[in-house]
Amino acid sequence: MAKKAKTTFVCQNCGAQRPRWEGKCPECGSWNSFVEETFTPMENSRGWALGETASNAKTLLTKTLDDEFTGKDFFRTPTGYAELDRVLGGGLVKGSFLLLGGSPGIGKSTLLLQMAGGISGKQTRVLYFSGEESIDQTGHRAQRLGIRSPYVTLASENNLSVILEVIRKQKPEVVIVDSIQTVFLPELTQAPGSVSQVRECAGHLMTLAKNEGISIFVVGHITKDGTLAGPKVLEHMVDCVLSFEGDSSFNHRILRSLKNRFGPTHEMGVFAMETQGLREITNPSEIFLEERSSQLMGSSVFANMEGSRPLLCEIQALTVPSHMSMPRRSANGCDINRLHLLCAVLEKHLQLPLFQSEVFVNVVGGLKISEPAADLAIACSLLSSEGHFDVDAKTLLFGEIGLTGEVRAVTQAEARVREGVRLGFQRFFIPASNFRQLEKTGEFKKTELISVSSVVELNRKLGKPRAVTDLSQSPSL
Ligand code: TYD
Ligand code: MG
Repeated sequence: MAKKAKTTFVCQNCGAQRPRWEGKCPECGSWNSFVEETFTPMENSRGWALGETASNAKTLLTKTLDDEFTGKDFFRTPTGYAELDRVLGGGLVKGSFLLLGGSPGIGKSTLLLQMAGGISGKQTRVLYFSGEESIDQTGHRAQRLGIRSPYVTLASENNLSVILEVIRKQKPEVVIVDSIQTVFLPELTQAPGSVSQVRECAGHLMTLAKNEGISIFVVGHITKDGTLAGPKVLEHMVDCVLSFEGDSSFNHRILRSLKNRFGPTHEMGVFAMETQGLREITNPSEIFLEERSSQLMGSSVFANMEGSRPLLCEIQALTVPSHMSMPRRSANGCDINRLHLLCAVLEKHLQLPLFQSEVFVNVVGGLKISEPAADLAIACSLLSSEGHFDVDAKTLLFGEIGLTGEVRAVTQAEARVREGVRLGFQRFFIPASNFRQLEKTGEFKKTELISVSSVVELNRKLGKPRAVTDLSQSPSL
């Protein structure tokens, strides 16, 4: 007897299910996101169960941590791109299920196509399914990028049942599905891209990846607000979530891992989109500093950590007198609330009259910085712009500033200084506790390390100090 169809309302944002329509999703708070969906449970369906399931508790296989594990899990294949390998944690893991997200036109298909070319060099068979472009379109693009290989097979298909059948028949080592929002299971009545379709399709692909030991990449679109389209459950299902980001006004693209079951997250790979496809940038600090002018008023350099790799970037500040009662504060590439806080700290401890100035801060090159370690460099740029003095070109700064004006230690100070030294920087303003730690190592004897414990000390040691009057002497209001 066929199972009865069931109707539920599914939030298209987070995948939450409700028996009735609701205006606001109680799980994720989004409005008007519930859509009616019908499920017809499949006969004898095992869902997406992994491998052979135990029929009862007696046949269930269990192991202690003292036993040998002979899983095929950690067999890694180099992708031919060192930047991608690092983000993956050292190569593509056999049998892994990965999601690559990014906004339209950022270069997801190009990246995966180039990766397919790179992997096929090791005689690894790759099957590329495009649901968005025809075989000819993909083929022409690949050949224009110089990828010619008998090991890469292209197909243009949206029906997941066909895709699964082809994969089972051809038994490739790597599969790319571009994109998960365009494939569908014909058994389901919902449109491609709906939560149920995305979840079911991903479930079947995950099962296949794990059971057959095939590495499967799926491409996911990004919604307007920058989150991955489709249910959160998709992110839970995959082993890795990679995000491909970039600013449309710059040609560099950044690949990040937001989740990785086989390696560290927060690693970053940098590429440049050129006429011949994506080129790896092995020395990203240089491209972000390459256009640094000799006009250094309001500009300082910060050593940002992206995973295990330091990335030097320029932070510019501009302060101009304002006649508005509420002067403007604008932060591009860093947190605006952090800027408000820093302005308040500098006003309080150095009597910097920022309350009557418009303040603009920009991280050059479209980079986004989330580390509080950037505070010291932002403060330095603000002091420089407000005090009309140039910051020495070979100076690098990092350190977190607290509400009382103290400068706090940051992590991985050694790696930051080392990268600075490698790129020819000579003076390093660093938090006092990091200074003590680095002095002990003795590695940076030839470098000028300058210990900074507060914003007052930063102001003094920058060489063009603002005269700071003692607050306790000023008449009370
Ligand atoms: P694509 O990989 O199709 O993006 P996505 O799959 O993320 O939507 O990349 C499309 C963009 O990349 C397109 O706007 C043009 C640009 N591009 C280049 O600049 N050079 C190239 O060699 C290629 C293939 C694409
Ligand atoms: Mg594409």
